[in-house]
Amino acid sequence: MTTTTNDFRPGLEGVVAAETRLSHADGQRGELVIAGFPLEELAGRATFEEAVYLLWHDHLPTKDEVTGFAADLCALRPLPEATVHLLQEVAAKSVPPMDALLMGAATLNLDSPATAEQQALTILARLPTIVATYWRLCHGQEPIAADPELSHAANYLYMLTGETPHAAQTRALDTYLNTVIDHGLNASTFTARVIIATESDLVSAVVGALGALKGPLHGGAPGPALDMVFEIGSADRAEAYLRAKLDRGERLMGFGHRVYKVRDPRADVLSVAAEKLFQEAGDSSLYDLAKAVEQKSIDLLAVYKPGRNLQTNVEFFTALVLHGLGLDTDLFTPTFAISRAAGWIAHCFEQKATGRLIRPSSRYIGEMDREWQPVEIRD
Ligand SMILES: CC(C)(COP(=O)(O)OP(=O)(O)OC[C@H]1O[C@@H](n2cnc3c(N)ncnc32)[C@H](O)[C@@H]1OP(=O)(O)O)[C@@H](O)C(=O)NCCC(=O)NCCS
Repeated sequence: MTTTTNDFRPGLEGVVAAETRLSHADGQRGELVIAGFPLEELAGRATFEEAVYLLWHDHLPTKDEVTGFAADLCALRPLPEATVHLLQEVAAKSVPPMDALLMGAATLNLDSPATAEQQALTILARLPTIVATYWRLCHGQEPIAADPELSHAANYLYMLTGETPHAAQTRALDTYLNTVIDHGLNASTFTARVIIATESDLVSAVVGALGALKGPLHGGAPGPALDMVFEIGSADRAEAYLRAKLDRGERLMGFGHRVYKVRDPRADVLSVAAEKLFQEAGDSSLYDLAKAVEQKSIDLLAVYKPGRNLQTNVEFFTALVLHGLGLDTDLFTPTFAISRAAGWIAHCFEQKATGRLIRPSSRYIGEMDREWQPVEIRD
């Protein structure tokens, strides 16, 4: 195919740079397909282990397959001593958990596993241990060893809090992790594919992807969506608060999406998960407030931004689910990463199979024909 520099697309918008069987986000219809399953069919039913297996093997696992897969992950959860030492050093400086995760993840090459599959399992198994270990160290608490009896999701909550979560909490976290496991060629996934396409290794690809996910335009927005709900405090204050924000030209966090021009399907799945979680806990007041804020926001956005069809996005209910699980807002993006790593790794395997280096072109807009001047005579 011949391309010219006239084909320049800022931000690569609309450029198809990969083929994938992993996920498809249809922004016009508001649909997300994960390895052939509509999100709504899969997210609230599968365990995270089943969803990862599906992405990595392109079929749902049998009972024996998922048992073996979960056991393999479980065995790899403990961190090498060097990783724990690094996290201790980093905790002394109180860096944000996402930076600590990035640094901790970079040590996962220390073990040099035999195969790429082993390396993939090691990364997936250890990211939650890194986050939980760091979180506890930062708060002056002893890290908690993984519990081999617990699933990936339940064990993450256990390592953070020291309490075994009840079934509804584990289900809510599984649903969240499944909902954000993959989302087409987003920035972090593209980053992972670019790195692996150079025949670099999976740890490097995941570390690069973590760097991309860290940015507020990608993975860093759920905190502010929840802050807004808390600041509003009661449903009768929502309209005045939201109008004031829109009058100042500010954006309502948790609404609008670059891809979805109708409602983000992940918002619905997570809204149901949040409703069940808060009901089970016996207090739905925050959920009810969030729903009231959501409805008022959609109504006002239609007035202030007519024709834009600005709807609720994934971040709004992510915040509610993760808060309902007792997670601090600083843990929201690292928890997103724990799930999305499964998608990054699946994309890396897909990309490797193509054997193709990713190397776009650029259009040169700089000076031409400059002449060298010795430093003594430069102005
Ligand atoms: C996600 C987001 C960056 C997508 O933006 P986009 O598709 O590039 O849309 P644009 O930035 O071109 O905005 C289109 C118009 O809608 C407005 N708009 C978009 N999202 C808005 C929001 N959440 N609140 C208020 N106005 C919004 C813009 O101000 C713009 O209005 P204008 O044409 O009058 O200037 C944007 O919707 C946003 O900033 N949302 C809030 C942050 C958020 O929730 N991020 C998490 C995303 S998962």
